[in-house]
Amino acid sequence: MRVLASAPAKIILFGEHSVVYGKPAIAAAINLRTYVEAELRDDKKIRIEAHDIKVPGLTVSFSENEIYFESDYGKAAEVLSYVRQAIELAMEEAGVRRGINVSITSQIPVGAGLGSSAAVAVATIGAVSKLLGLELTREEVAKLGHKVELLVQGASSGIDPTVSAIGGFLYYEKGNFEHLPFMELPIVVGYTGSSGSTKELVAMVRRRYESMPELIVPILNAMGKLVEKAREVITSELDEEEKFAKLGELMNINHGLLDALGVSTKKLSELVYAARTAGALGAKITGAGGGGCMYALAPGRQREVATAITIAGGTPMITEISREGLRIE
Ligand code: MEV
Repeated sequence: MRVLASAPAKIILFGEHSVVYGKPAIAAAINLRTYVEAELRDDKKIRIEAHDIKVPGLTVSFSENEIYFESDYGKAAEVLSYVRQAIELAMEEAGVRRGINVSITSQIPVGAGLGSSAAVAVATIGAVSKLLGLELTREEVAKLGHKVELLVQGASSGIDPTVSAIGGFLYYEKGNFEHLPFMELPIVVGYTGSSGSTKELVAMVRRRYESMPELIVPILNAMGKLVEKAREVITSELDEEEKFAKLGELMNINHGLLDALGVSTKKLSELVYAARTAGALGAKITGAGGGGCMYALAPGRQREVATAITIAGGTPMITEISREGLRIE
């Protein structure tokens, strides 16, 4: 018996990092997916194959016969720890331990801030739990995905696995989410080509927060207020043009605040300013930062912004919001 499951990447539109401190955030699933196929084996072994986990500059191919594998595949090793924990938790939930083969294929670049780890965790939990006879809801898978992140990263708001499991356009706060009215967002994602570790970036912000709370707390509070404003705009009666103009302005403020937290890089800022110069209404980091991706809101200017991102040395991706989260294929 075999089960194929898939889960999407995400972009955080507003509120990354401050969401770890209980502030709200707004995120959307996008149409890049990770596919996980799980099948039962006759023995007690677990074999994981990930022939095309897209590690920047390196394609990894490996297989391991034991669940407690040791590996040294750079960024891929970090992804594998999510897969391992996801398998463990799905088996714990099902109350059985069986030998399985897990095969992963992914369209999502690793460490790009697009939620590749959450997508692989969600798709793995979806495939393995179904294979073991469990019928989990998407909400239950999201909660297990959050547990995986806590075990691997030490700290996580849970927004990435929630968006990946549920899909669509979400307002998220402290483990709870609400669907926002669906909007076609004319965005361009710009990949710097380098990756940041979410675990390290979250820890770096935590150190700043602990050493200078009088400075960092007001920044996090401003981010929280900014997300509330963005929600008001999205749910308002304004026409699309006015909404985009206001959201663009809020994106630019959010980028400045993220820069103040120390998670931007020279390359990220170059892509952000290149996009704005080419006519984007707003541009900001998306995800943990430290490399990874930015995104720009560019109604009617997506091609020009994509070209500007390329000229500035980034890789543009014109993506769409995906309404679908976890899917059993
Ligand atoms: C990472 O995509 C988003 C962060 O806010 C971490 C988290 O929410 O768990 C940086």
